[in-house]
Amino acid sequence: MENIPNHLSKIDGQLGKLIILGFPFEELATNASFEEMIFLFLHNHLPNKNELDNVTKKLLSHRYLDEKILDVLKNAAANDIELIEGVRIGVSCLTMDMQSHRIDKEGINGALKIIASVPIITASYWRLLNGQPLVEPHLELGHAANYLYMLTGEKPIPEDVKTLEIYLNTVIEHGMNASTFAARVVMSTRSDFVSAVTAAIGAMKGVLHGGAPGPVLDMLLEMQESGDIEGYLRHKFENRERLMGFGHRVYRVKDPRAILLSQVSADIWKRKENKEFWGLAVDVETTALRLLKEYKPNRSIETNVEYYTALVLHGLGLPSALFTSTFTVSRVVGWLAHCLEQLELDRIIRPSSDYTGPSEQRWCPIEER
Ligand code: ACO
Repeated sequence: MENIPNHLSKIDGQLGKLIILGFPFEELATNASFEEMIFLFLHNHLPNKNELDNVTKKLLSHRYLDEKILDVLKNAAANDIELIEGVRIGVSCLTMDMQSHRIDKEGINGALKIIASVPIITASYWRLLNGQPLVEPHLELGHAANYLYMLTGEKPIPEDVKTLEIYLNTVIEHGMNASTFAARVVMSTRSDFVSAVTAAIGAMKGVLHGGAPGPVLDMLLEMQESGDIEGYLRHKFENRERLMGFGHRVYRVKDPRAILLSQVSADIWKRKENKEFWGLAVDVETTALRLLKEYKPNRSIETNVEYYTALVLHGLGLPSALFTSTFTVSRVVGWLAHCLEQLELDRIIRPSSDYTGPSEQRWCPIEER
């Protein structure tokens, strides 16, 4: 199959560089608001003041949860369906609340509806799962601040909002990763945005992709408790377990997003009483990289984005069960920008496969089998 065109991001896995729409990703991540990133991804240029006001207003107009969707989420929570699956269920229900179910009519407004809804569905479902009363969306807060507000019921401090925005901007897009590919395959059949995003969330959930940061935090907490970093890690390698937060299909050096998020997490943890947790994470990283050279000598396995994602999100006070869905709050923008590109291309994605099954078989009646 020919390569899939992608005008959104360019990754150099040897040099550890990530370019987003022509910008070094670090510049966008640290300077842009999340609303500016949304505009950039849907329109391919940075917004001027008017354009930013317009996109912000449109996002606000979608900042509510439809009663029919809420009912479904209540049912899912009563059945103890885990958070990311509840988010997937909630997103698939957006079909009931879309202006049009036809992709040629959905356009950018359909994409904005989904982008605005993901944090609302996530925060609402999280509170339902925890038996807490729902928090109404705050119409005067930005996209990221409102997400924190709806999760906690408290207005977040500006430093936390900025940290969350840097995180969301950092993970918004990353080439033809598993979830983005899933979205593009669905879109390539001329399906619809809701179906594409629902499929992408299914791919996102797995621990080899967006499901990794929760287990990273769990692992760090276990090592903090045991106090034996090297013994814990050796035990994992001896059992041929994968170390979450390490390794990448494309990067042969440290993931540049991990470098940025390690600086961001260092800043958050400096403000905390439990400062030594960040130091523990650095010690674990150093020991893990040394042991990876010993156990996997022929592989270039380095730290990936999920390792310091765990430190940033935990530093913001989010429990590990929220990590994959918080990643989704951001990556949904990348998925939808890819969907728009795929729509424009209008070419079905059909990878070839190598047949590895048996040959020379003949039909045999059931009595003779
Ligand atoms: N821990 C231990 N061994 C590893 C790890 C790891 N984290 N990553 C790769 N390896 C080993 C594999 O066991 C394999 O060894 P073997 O050939 O001796 O059996 C070898 O390296 C190659 O493994 P592949 O799965 O082929 O490597 P690939 O580059 O395709 O995998 C992946 C990438 C899935 C991310 C892998 O590194 C991994 O499982 N990492 C842990 C999960 C994780 O952190 N995922 C998040 C990735 S970032 C993101 O998706 C946003």
